[in-house]
Amino acid sequence: MKWLVLLGLVALSECIVEIPLMKVNVMQETLNEKSLLNNFLKEYAYRLAQISTRNSKMTSVPMRNFLDTAYVGNITIGTPPQQFRVVFDTGSSDLWVPSNFCTSPACYSHITFKYWESSTYRHTTKPFEITYGSGRVKGHLAYDTIRIGNLVSTDQPFGLSLEEYGFNGLPFDGVLGLNYPNNSILGAIPIFDNLKKQGAISEPIFAFYLSNTVNGSVLMLGGVDKAYYKGQLNWIPLSRVGDWRINIDHISMKGKLIGCSGGCEALVDTGTSLINGPTRLVTNIQRLIGTTPLGPKHYVSCSSINILPSIIFTINGINYTLPAQAYILKDAQGGCFSTFKGGTEIFKHRETWVLGDIFLRLYFSVYDRGNNRIGLAQAA
Ligand SMILES: *[C@@H]1O[C@H](CO)[C@@H](O)[C@H](O)[C@H]1NC(C)=O
Ligand SMILES: *[C@@H]1O[C@H](CO)[C@@H](O)[C@H](O)[C@H]1NC(C)=O
Ligand SMILES: *[C@@H]1O[C@H](CO)[C@@H](O)[C@H](O)[C@H]1NC(C)=O
Ligand SMILES: *[C@@H]1O[C@H](CO)[C@@H](O)[C@H](O)[C@H]1NC(C)=O
Repeated sequence: MKWLVLLGLVALSECIVEIPLMKVNVMQETLNEKSLLNNFLKEYAYRLAQISTRNSKMTSVPMRNFLDTAYVGNITIGTPPQQFRVVFDTGSSDLWVPSNFCTSPACYSHITFKYWESSTYRHTTKPFEITYGSGRVKGHLAYDTIRIGNLVSTDQPFGLSLEEYGFNGLPFDGVLGLNYPNNSILGAIPIFDNLKKQGAISEPIFAFYLSNTVNGSVLMLGGVDKAYYKGQLNWIPLSRVGDWRINIDHISMKGKLIGCSGGCEALVDTGTSLINGPTRLVTNIQRLIGTTPLGPKHYVSCSSINILPSIIFTINGINYTLPAQAYILKDAQGGCFSTFKGGTEIFKHRETWVLGDIFLRLYFSVYDRGNNRIGLAQAA
């Protein structure tokens, strides 16, 4: 009996699958040369991020983009497996990779899926279109076996892109969404839901440890590895079930409110690099930090990193501190810029913020589908 219990414990701990992620730089310079994207950005700036052609209903996701940095990992699709590099994104719910039939320039710089080489492939002609703040993909729905580490999702719906805008030269082939099924633009069961349904993972939970360095970041599926955080996990209920979105009490600096004065919501988003907020409030924060706009970024003297006060996000009564060393970054030319970015909506008088990788590098994050909550703890 005791022996059986022990076996059970071993099995449980073995159920956590750890996927190594790599931090990659997304060069904006390359992107800016693409007039297609520039026109596109002008057209779509400050609009909602994801537009579904399926039911032509706009989802209320603030403008998201994959610029600056991204965390990528490997998955395979098909039998025998074809490997792709994807961004693991808690802000969206669909998986897509380029089809070998894609004729956009972006597809020539990426790995493309050759469906005739896969014996488990199932074709459909159902179209999809996903619009991001930084680009757009169009293609068709398909089904195949998908592997993440040693986890296998069979007959998994995913998108094969035939046209891509804004993804040229980006260091990943596609995107793997880890948000709730409600946000699926393909209208298909997301991979995490399918893995759970097919019994590949026992606990409907996953977690991200995002490192400052190129290597060392991890996506955990099916459980949480305590080695990646310090202290305890603070659980925060979702503000709405069906989206990785939480309530924030307020945002302050030196004890003064600088945002979210009446409470607000934030998307917890591994697919966003920076911290996004409503333009008016972010402009005020840039003023308090003392930044100067130059192109799309707001710069500050690098020496001020040691002087600037921390910015505190109070969530569920707990202070999450963001020191200047975290919210000011150095770019490739050695300039220091603010990682606060405007562009989100104030929806029904309620501010929406996006807590991206800047925040998630400091705070280890757990996504609990079973209890519809997010856990945050100091990253180890
Ligand atoms: C993905 O696979 C490639 C080649 O197979 C390997 O070089 C790379 O390190 C892998 N990336 C990650 C993040 O594991
Ligand atoms: C990161 O890991 C990859 C693959 O394991 C290795 O080739 C590369 O040198 C590492 N990079 C750094 C900066 O440590
Ligand atoms: C979203 O999906 C969850 C289950 O995954 C469900 O409980 C919730 O009601 C859905 N929300 C909306 C707005 O459809
Ligand atoms: C949290 O931060 C606020 C604003 O800076 C401060 O007034 C409060 O004392 C802090 N609370 C804790 C528990 O540290």
